[in-house]
Formats: sequence, structure tokens, C-alpha cells
Amino acid sequence: MPAKNKRTSKTTPVRRARTSAKPPAPPLDIRGGDKTLAPKRVSDSQMRLSLVMNPDLANPLGNVHGGEIMKLVDEGGGFAAMKHARNVTVTVAMDSMTFLSPVHVGALLSLNASVNWVGRTSMEVGVRVEAENVVTGHITHTNSAYLVYVALDQYGQATPVPPLILESDEERRRWEEGAARQRYRLAQANKKSNST
Ligand SMILES: CC(C)(COP(=O)(O)OP(=O)(O)OC[C@H]1O[C@@H](n2cnc3c(N)ncnc32)[C@H](O)[C@@H]1OP(=O)(O)O)[C@@H](O)C(=O)NCCC(=O)NCCS
Repeated sequence: MPAKNKRTSKTTPVRRARTSAKPPAPPLDIRGGDKTLAPKRVSDSQMRLSLVMNPDLANPLGNVHGGEIMKLVDEGGGFAAMKHARNVTVTVAMDSMTFLSPVHVGALLSLNASVNWVGRTSMEVGVRVEAENVVTGHITHTNSAYLVYVALDQYGQATPVPPLILESDEERRRWEEGAARQRYRLAQANKKSNST
């Protein structure tokens, strides 16, 4: 006789321990700007601009003019500022710029622009410039620059910008450094206006 199928014993369901509720997310670190405007993340306005250095940008020895790079830095930074403000912006200050290595014709120049700090109507943008030799893949850090832009309304008047949300220690470090640079710029500008 065929053996009777053994009854499978019913297993008692294991009671899962109740998972405790997720701890509440820490409050967002929101700084500067006009609190009536929706705050923006640094990543919302970050920009990367890449372009090939053609001979018309260079001297007869094939080195790209520093002024051409400064112009690109101003443009790249301006786009990051406009993306943050969602308004037209003008450059009000550009810190001194040092070129660490030459940029040659044929290089692929890349600019990374990021809003570091925002005041009421002004914003500091940091721009890092790198040149890549696309044949060897070698990348050199050409220079970094800090620029201040002011957002304008349709009448050409300075207008408030959104606050900035800081999400990492690096963004907080950049904020503090940007705030210190802006204090220094304004102190220098005051000195100049007092001496004239
Ligand atoms: C930028 C401009 C609109 C400011 O106008 P304004 O009525 O003088 O405005 P304010 O004095 O209120 O300054 C506006 C902001 O710029 C900041 N600012 C002014 N001078 C500055 C300087 N030298 N460095 C850094 N920031 C400066 C102020 O601190 C203020 O910031 P905040 O609102 O965040 O506190 C005006 O100066 C201008 O049109 N400049 C020419 C810009 C230009 O043509 N750029 C080159 C071509 S894009």
C-alpha cells in the first residue's frame, strides 16, 4: 500500500517585531535670500560648460588668452546665478584670478560653476576651470574664480533671490568662506568710496 502522505505541520507564523517609526529628518539648512521665495538646492543651479579651444582664442604661440578664459568664467558663473535667481543677473565683482597653467589650442576646457553663498539680492558663484588634453586624457586645473552677481527685475533694479539649501559639509564650508569673502569685498568697496 502506498504510504499516506504525511500531514505537513502548520507552522506558527513568526511575529515580526514592529519596526520603530523612522526618526524625523533633520530640518533643512536654509540660508540667506528672501524667505518668501522657494529655497533652492546648490545642485539646482550647478553648471558644467565644456568647449574646444579654437585658434581664434589664442596668441600666435597657441596659448589661449587669459581674457578669453575670464570671459567664459563670467558667462558660466552668470548662468549658475541666473538659474538660482531665475532672473537676469549682472556681474558686480570678480575676485583676482591666477592662471596656474597655460591652456593650449585644441584643449577641451570645462567650467564647473556653483552658487556658494547668497545675500539678499547678490550671489557668490565659484567657478573651477579645467583643461583636458583629449588625446592623452590628462586634465589640468587651470584656475578657480569667485564672482558676485546681482539679480535684476524688469526695471533693472536689484531684486531678491531665493534662499540656498545646504546639504553637505562641503556646501557649508563653501558658504562660510563665501560669506567671509563677501564681507571683505564690501569692506574694500567702502574703503574705496570713503577715500574718493
Ligand atoms: C549691481 C547693481 C545693479 C547694484 O545696484 P545698487 O542699487 O547699487 O544695489 P545695492 O547697493 O543694493 O547692491 C546690491 C547687492 O550688490 C552687493 N554689492 C554691491 N557692491 C558690491 C561689491 N563691490 N562687491 C560685492 N557685492 C557688492 C550688495 O552688497 C548688495 O547685496 P545684497 O542685496 O545681497 O545685500 C549696480 O551696481 C550695477 O548695475 N552695476 C553694474 C553691473 C554691470 O554692468 N556689470 C557688468 C556687466 S554684466
